[in-house]
Amino acid sequence: MRLLFLGDLVGRSGRRAVIEQLPILRDRYSLDFVIVNGENAAGGFGITEEICDELIQAGADVITTGNHVWDQRQALVFIDRQERLLRPLNFPEGTPGRGAAMFKAANGAEVLVMNAMGRVFMNEMDCPFRTVDRELSNRNLRDIADVIFVDFHAEATSEKQAMGYFLDGRASCIVGTHTHTPTADYRILENGTGYISDVGMCGDYNSILGMDKVEPLQRFLSRIPSERFQPSLGVATICGIGFEIDDTSGLTTKIGPVRLGGLLTPTEPDFWVS
Ligand SMILES: [Fe+2]
Ligand SMILES: [Fe+2]
Repeated sequence: MRLLFLGDLVGRSGRRAVIEQLPILRDRYSLDFVIVNGENAAGGFGITEEICDELIQAGADVITTGNHVWDQRQALVFIDRQERLLRPLNFPEGTPGRGAAMFKAANGAEVLVMNAMGRVFMNEMDCPFRTVDRELSNRNLRDIADVIFVDFHAEATSEKQAMGYFLDGRASCIVGTHTHTPTADYRILENGTGYISDVGMCGDYNSILGMDKVEPLQRFLSRIPSERFQPSLGVATICGIGFEIDDTSGLTTKIGPVRLGGLLTPTEPDFWVS
């Protein structure tokens, strides 16, 4: 089975690129399942219901999020009716929405998607390790679903690698998000889980993490905020990661980065384009 995950869409530039390209990519790679992180889709901060609908229309099966999930306050309400939108699983009990859910892929596979958030250099949350563990409740991967996918939204690569080893062999794929900068450590872990510390963002890389450079630089220099961060509006790079997953074991057999358009050196998984 072929699964594509796209990193955090930042603002109009990232959103437009993904909405325009996703139908083409679905077709070009014969994708069975697509997940995108949408936490920065609305002007860099959160997501609106309209954007949710547009992304699903364009071919996203699931939209994951992270620390910015509630930046657009309306998300607290519409998340309960947007079944394809997830928020981090390890918010306190009673938080609106869901952090894990089962979806059907184009090839008929049952896919469990989980979204969790790290705690190192981030806001206090329930323990992501115990929360994810509880969700899997000591069952084998294939006793739960055909594929288990985890978007671990975290700052520290150590915490993300720890989650990788914690779930190795118990999940099909674990991807890191949040830093908006792709890492080169994509690989298959010892027990068959496809892993990358950070997928990067879909946005303008002529920026600071997708934001117009002036204000973030000014804040580093002066330590005084002077205006709101604005998404950078140049041409976006679509940044993602592709997985080939074995139908029998539910584990990853191939993993490769996708980087298209914009400033980064283009790359596509060679096992999808030959
Ligand atoms: Fe983000
Ligand atoms: Fe984030």
